[in-house]
Amino acid sequence: MKITKENIVDALRNVIDPDLGKDLVSLGMIEDVEIEGKKVSFTVYLTTPACPLKEEIKKACINAVTHLVDKEAEVSVHMSSRVTKSRTEGQGDQNLLKGVKNIIAVASGKGGVGKSTVSVNMAVALAKTGAKVGLVDTDIYGPSIPTMFDLHEKPNISAQRKLIPLEKYGVKLLSMGFLVDTDDAVVWRGPMVSSAVKQFLSEADWGELDYLLLDLPPGTGDIQLTIVQSVPLTGAIIVSTPQTVALDDARKGVAMFGKVGVPVLGIVENMAFFTPPDLPDRKYHIFGKDGAKNLAEKLGVPFLGEVPIEEQLREGGDTGRPIVDLAPDSPSSVAFNQLAMKAAQQIAIRNATREPTEKIEILYR
Ligand SMILES: Nc1ncnc2c1ncn2[C@@H]1O[C@H](COP(=O)(O)OP(=O)(O)OP(=O)(O)O)[C@@H](O)[C@H]1O
Ligand SMILES: [Mg+2]
Repeated sequence: MKITKENIVDALRNVIDPDLGKDLVSLGMIEDVEIEGKKVSFTVYLTTPACPLKEEIKKACINAVTHLVDKEAEVSVHMSSRVTKSRTEGQGDQNLLKGVKNIIAVASGKGGVGKSTVSVNMAVALAKTGAKVGLVDTDIYGPSIPTMFDLHEKPNISAQRKLIPLEKYGVKLLSMGFLVDTDDAVVWRGPMVSSAVKQFLSEADWGELDYLLLDLPPGTGDIQLTIVQSVPLTGAIIVSTPQTVALDDARKGVAMFGKVGVPVLGIVENMAFFTPPDLPDRKYHIFGKDGAKNLAEKLGVPFLGEVPIEEQLREGGDTGRPIVDLAPDSPSSVAFNQLAMKAAQQIAIRNATREPTEKIEILYR
């Protein structure tokens, strides 16, 4: 077959995005098709730079052209991305965070299960793929981000009188810990906290972001509910350890998001097992085995992966060095990178398939 733009595009109609179930051409992912003799080049715009199927899709494109158009074609595929914006009509305040494509809450029922650790490392992992990422620490009573990033300065105010987020490891950051003395905040009541968080989101200059992660305080009470309802969330990620007490609370978390119509993007199992450095083949399931994985299955929610217990991860958290930057090849870093990709994948799937549901409209009308 002759190498023409039409034939190339037709061939690429046979390449299906496995997550979205449609072909790349219908999805509008193919652009810049150029032909010079036997040389063919084009760009594939994925829905996230953190796409786990990048290589697979690239190979399928090359195959489609060489099998269907010309087997001697020299195909060069440029892989790029445009993160899709979530459709959250009818949910939360739509004027809030307009330049932010996806807002994701990281929550847990029980405290201390690793929400902040997961948020921080997922944010840095996403930023490393080239995505524009922000992270908000919404925990006024126990902010973690100042310590976990070793950042203790006050953010500047722009000429438009907006807070300018700090930036480290490629992530834009704001924490209540940068702004209020946490010893004073302990006497704040629920409504004060949630309105402070809302102001904090609306009165900061986030600019354009692909992903903004909200690290929530532990629990499923009033404060969490207000934050969740006032922001147009793309979805929520629930963190749990495999322990029964944590799982019971994680289930409550899933139920809370369900009631307010926020999709749960997945469950993460943190502190899944421990492998002593001198016994690399052993896995000790200190808090139980596969608890969060089984819960995800039972609730019909995606399982995003498991993170092992690691001394260096804890040390990195305490000294302000996220593990994905400090030791990118460590088992927990590998786990965080996979988590970030799976979450980005779930977001892309949601954005491609989610219609604003009636349920949400009714809830917020
Ligand atoms: N996989 C892990 N391996 C080792 N230490 C971990 C792991 N996950 C978390 N930690 C440590 O456990 C402690 C609690 O984690 P983290 O602060 O992330 O939990 P949290 O759910 O955000 O807590 P809170 O409910 O107080 O907000 C931290 O000291 C952190 O470094
Ligand atoms: Mg925390």
